[in-house]
Amino acid sequence: SLEKSLRPQTLAQYIGQTRVKHELGVYIEAARKREESLDHVLLYGPPGLGKTTLAMVIANEMHVQIRTTSGPAIEKPGDLVALLNELEPGDILFIDEIHRLPKIVEEMLYSAMEDFYVDIVVGQGPTAHPVHFPLPPFTLIGATTRAGMLSAPLRDRFGIVEHMAYYEVADLEDIVERTADIFQTSIKPSGAHEIARRSRGTPRIANRLFKRIRDFAEVAEQAAIDEPIVDRSLTYLRVDNDGLDETDNKLLRTMLDFYDGGPVGLSTLAANIGEETDTIAEMVEPYLLQIGYLKRTQRGRVVTAKGYQHLGLPYPPQN
Ligand code: ADE
Repeated sequence: SLEKSLRPQTLAQYIGQTRVKHELGVYIEAARKREESLDHVLLYGPPGLGKTTLAMVIANEMHVQIRTTSGPAIEKPGDLVALLNELEPGDILFIDEIHRLPKIVEEMLYSAMEDFYVDIVVGQGPTAHPVHFPLPPFTLIGATTRAGMLSAPLRDRFGIVEHMAYYEVADLEDIVERTADIFQTSIKPSGAHEIARRSRGTPRIANRLFKRIRDFAEVAEQAAIDEPIVDRSLTYLRVDNDGLDETDNKLLRTMLDFYDGGPVGLSTLAANIGEETDTIAEMVEPYLLQIGYLKRTQRGRVVTAKGYQHLGLPYPPQN
């Protein structure tokens, strides 16, 4: 399907994240030369930057199978054992949102990662007995929005730790052009630039906006996506000139209207705008921090001069 072909298959096709690609390229080549499994890999960074895609690329480059799951999906040790039991030597187990693994499952991963075995308890009551369960050598790829959310014992068991950063506009332009090509849609450089500039450094957002803008262009019977159609579509989609959406702006506005720009705690803010604290911490706040509209202080978040400017307000605030 088109959706599927959007995902690059090789490191060479993967756009951006140059440092990460280069490092992984070395470790993959070395592991292959030695005919060993790749060391465990931790990918951390904001959502939508291609951590899952990169895990699939690694599997492809290593010529091994990949099994994909997520922290919350593994509820009990038996779920993990079932997954591990299906692995062939060298295979990859990908666990998205690995910071959300239940503690008891996480603890089982320690021996699995370090020495390729798990100790499980078979049977119940008086017949219960421990069973030592050997595993084939495998590679765990964990993905998380923040490495700091992992416990130290788990984090320390990853031999390869890679940080995924927000993409440069130029890289997002390349991603949008590639996507347009796959969807057989013509796009002008100015159109690709405008989508890239307003995608919050995030390929997933760029690709989502591209698809909606393509719909607008189609209905308007416009031959190619250009800057004006991008701008009109994004206005309609309530994506502002900086790429901020309604949640981003609601957060900034709430901080000004109710807390004089801060400092204010994350959970207070989350309650005010009706979102989960985790959602704010993992999906909303990071980009606002990155572009310098917010900053973290000892006593909570504050809106910066740039943040005031974005909302068209003077700084320092007038009373
Ligand atoms: N699609 C989404 N992210 C991508 C990337 N980093 N490279 C190529 N295509 C992508």
